[in-house]
Amino acid sequence: MLDKLQNILAEAEKTAGLITDAQELEKLKLAILGRKGTLTEILRGLSVLPIEERKKAGERANAVREQLESLIDSRLSELKRKALAEKLLKEKIDITLPGLPLPNGHFHPIRQTLDEMTGIFESLGFKTAEGPEIETDWYNFEALNIPRDHPARDSQDTFYLQDDDRLLRTHTSPVQARVMEKTQPPVRIIAPGRVFRNEATDATHSAIFHQVEGLYVDKNVTFADLKGTLTLFVHRYFSPEIGIRFRPSHFQFTEPSAEVDIQCIICGGKGCRVCKNTGWLEMLGCGMVHPNVFRSVKYDPKLYTGFAFGIGVERFAMLKYGIDDMRLFYENNLQFLRQF
Ligand code: PHE
Repeated sequence: MLDKLQNILAEAEKTAGLITDAQELEKLKLAILGRKGTLTEILRGLSVLPIEERKKAGERANAVREQLESLIDSRLSELKRKALAEKLLKEKIDITLPGLPLPNGHFHPIRQTLDEMTGIFESLGFKTAEGPEIETDWYNFEALNIPRDHPARDSQDTFYLQDDDRLLRTHTSPVQARVMEKTQPPVRIIAPGRVFRNEATDATHSAIFHQVEGLYVDKNVTFADLKGTLTLFVHRYFSPEIGIRFRPSHFQFTEPSAEVDIQCIICGGKGCRVCKNTGWLEMLGCGMVHPNVFRSVKYDPKLYTGFAFGIGVERFAMLKYGIDDMRLFYENNLQFLRQF
């Protein structure tokens, strides 16, 4: 009997050491300790033995069962550890591998120009205002002293929306009327934004472009203030050495009106292809706010005066960076854009 127990134990030790599969190990456990297992059978056979022998053999059998159980359990956890180690080895990731490059983007040159211009005017006390790109006929024309059927409408070929009262704003000037309507003087704002005209695209024209509008209204604002402000702006944007002149012009919403020229920065004023041999470049429109504009926003034109200006953003950017084709701004060509 005792020999038999010893044999079972020795046999089990040998087999367990060879088994590499957890399921097989469970089977072995069942074959020995299960209901019909070899050890279970021996335990059952004990009852026929005399009491002294039964006691001894019983103790021994129980000890063997415990040994078998711990043998199988430890072999089982050993197998699990091994499996885990193998899995970890297979799933290892190499954290020393460099990541994919994520290039840094930056602002578009037009955005940069707008920000630079806004910065100069903000340093002079102008606040930034905004208006809608889809405008009404009233703000884009009527409030600016451009009645229906007035020939001045022809100078801005307009995209009208279906209902004929709404349109894509042709300039940023409607923001003047919108701001004045809501606030009392003093008013000192700039309005940067996109404008739209039904124009064929070429090197110097685009149906969508950008302007920075300016408006200053208070008591006793004079043409001298206009000249001082715009001269300072041009000098800051280009250089303090650059020549600047104010040339009489016409806009319906300013009186008097002027066009601002700067000395050609390509040839220094000597005359070249860019300035058409005049030595000067036309840069922006401006003037003293027309009394009719004040009337349409219910300001008293006897009490207040003011000046306004409209800057073509692309033109300033092109001259500063030496760009000879406006279309480059809109083509999303990274080779071009990465230079800024
Ligand atoms: N709105 C005018 C244009 O687009 C420019 C301008 C603005 C002129 C303000 C005078 C005063 O041509």
